Amino acid sequence: MSGPLILAVESSCDETGIAVVEGGRRIHANVVASQTALHAATGGIVPEVAARAHLRWIVPVLDEALAGAGVSVADVDAVAVTYGPGLAGSLLVGINFAKTLAFVHDKPLVGVNHLEGHLYAAWLLDPGEAEREAALFPLVALIVSGGHTFLVEMRDHLTYRLFGQTVDDAAGEAFDKVGRLLGLSYPGGPAIQRAAEAATRHDSVFPRAWLGDSYDFSFSGLKTAARRTVDEARAAAGLPVDGRLRAGEDAQLPEAVTAELAWGFQDSVVDVLATKTIRAAEEVDARTIVIGGGVAANAALRARIAGDAEARNIRLNVPRPGLCTDNGAMIGAAAAWRLGAGDLAGLDLDARPSLPLARPEPVAR
Ligand code: KG4
Ligand code: ZN
Repeated sequence: MSGPLILAVESSCDETGIAVVEGGRRIHANVVASQTALHAATGGIVPEVAARAHLRWIVPVLDEALAGAGVSVADVDAVAVTYGPGLAGSLLVGINFAKTLAFVHDKPLVGVNHLEGHLYAAWLLDPGEAEREAALFPLVALIVSGGHTFLVEMRDHLTYRLFGQTVDDAAGEAFDKVGRLLGLSYPGGPAIQRAAEAATRHDSVFPRAWLGDSYDFSFSGLKTAARRTVDEARAAAGLPVDGRLRAGEDAQLPEAVTAELAWGFQDSVVDVLATKTIRAAEEVDARTIVIGGGVAANAALRARIAGDAEARNIRLNVPRPGLCTDNGAMIGAAAAWRLGAGDLAGLDLDARPSLPLARPEPVAR
């Protein structure tokens, strides 16, 4: 393989990730220090706690990544870093770290959009993984994370046409909130998936917000419906009704009931995400569907889109679950294309907490 060797830093939210990636594709090392356990106690992320944890772990994560790849910073062609969107304090830790490395080692600095990173995770290959065909254009990409939910068309690298996005909560945020309602552990996404896998009846039905023929998404109504349904189930089980229950606190619903509710909620989210993605892919004759972001780690979503895409002869490129959630390798993948386009950052690079996906234009319909 050829192409630039990039050292990539990700610290936008609650994972400290550093990777060494070659040619925007081959991972040489990808180390992620997760703060999940740290935030479980509060049932969510406290920004200052997240920033301090990045500060604590970023040097050990770099050491492990360099050792894993068998390189030193002097060997890489560029240093890349996420500069938005994300939590300002968290972003600043990674940006300052990457700037220092670039300055001291006299390397070009590449600023990467975190959302573009989630998209480009679909191009990654693990160390030792056999070559496989890259995504073909035009493609339709669904990005579903804790902070974002959107559907875009790509006709070429680094260009995006927006089909739709969430008008309220992100899909991952809905998973996290409903996980909390059900008294499941943080983060809610993986916990709901596990609970749903134990469901046997599959008879709980949650509403779907189709929003007419729009490609936008809405999850706030679903969240309200989930709260009502959980309250009803708790009342029926003779349990106190309090929407602010946390994992391990107070009496929990019987496991079988929790499983059915988790399944019903997950089924609603998966149905809407998959239906709109497939419809978009058919509308533009997409050759590939790409999915990414933490919620793309969800087994039910992956299976549903895989089946629907196969039935229509559309390729599906989906990163393995560990590359769907935040990591440095995805930033290294996107950075190779940005570097190739001459898109370099200066040492004045600043955090952009609300950075939108680069140059999105609405699809003319
Ligand atoms: O992309 P990500 O790691 O961070 C952001 O950029 O937001 O996404 C985190 C989100 C969380 O809301 C988490 O609950 C969700 O992804 N998630 C999942 C699964 N794994 C992570 N949601 C559903 N099923 C999963 N298996
Ligand atoms: Zn993310």
